[in-house]
Amino acid sequence: MGTKRHFRVWRGDDSGGDIQDYDVEVNDGEVVLDIIHRLQATQTPDLACRWNCKAGKCGSCSMEINGMPRLGCMTRMSTFEETETVTITPLRTFPVIRDLVTDVSFNYEKARETPAFAPPVGVAPGEYRMQQVDVERSQEFRKCIECFLCQNTCHVVRDHDENKPAFSGPRYFIRAAELDMHPLDDREDRKEYAQAKQGLGYCNITKCCTEVCPEHIKITDNAIIPMKERVVDRRYDPLVWLGRKIFRR
Ligand code: SF4
Ligand code: F3S
Ligand code: FES
Repeated sequence: MGTKRHFRVWRGDDSGGDIQDYDVEVNDGEVVLDIIHRLQATQTPDLACRWNCKAGKCGSCSMEINGMPRLGCMTRMSTFEETETVTITPLRTFPVIRDLVTDVSFNYEKARETPAFAPPVGVAPGEYRMQQVDVERSQEFRKCIECFLCQNTCHVVRDHDENKPAFSGPRYFIRAAELDMHPLDDREDRKEYAQAKQGLGYCNITKCCTEVCPEHIKITDNAIIPMKERVVDRRYDPLVWLGRKIFRR
């Protein structure tokens, strides 16, 4: 037999809404998504929530729990004090469709804008060869589950809709870094593209994206900062340029 705990859940749609109060039973070992399912089963059958795997792998159940962007299925109720009220709200950066479901199509637009992997002309499928060391360099970035918690957290767009057209966001910076590290990607300079077209310059390395990533991808340290450093090196540092010229001979 569980204990009753107090929850607050945002209810509404694109025309507005507010926080509603509920008392819900909580059992040992449960996660926040279990509570949402119990709410749907017992009190609010029309409560909208997106989810799929319940295993932290589909990236669907992103929400804000006590103000922190998190996956509902990976947030244990034991995280909170027994007497603590748990407040569940939709992702703030994206438009609400209904209740906890937001329209994340901003991210799909940014994905479409990111130039695809382009192998060298004349290399046929089956002839691509990569060293294991090259595979491992970008392995971390391929763990992304596209939960968009990093996109939701980044202050560049969180309260600044006006920045959205010019800023692709941390998820697409790791995509650029991944392709930049790919020995067969021949399209163009990914770092320069990120700087010129994806809004890399807007990022002031606050690292909030890294803090919320459920896959523990070191977005800032391993993707953003190295790309920024190399763009700056190339553009502004004549010593680095001269050094490259001399030592490459
Ligand atoms: Fe989610 Fe991390 Fe991928 Fe961002 S980088 S979308 S936080 S898994
Ligand atoms: Fe935003 Fe991450 Fe940069 S939160 S400002 S993209 S370090
Ligand atoms: Fe798939 Fe939470 S339901 S990540």
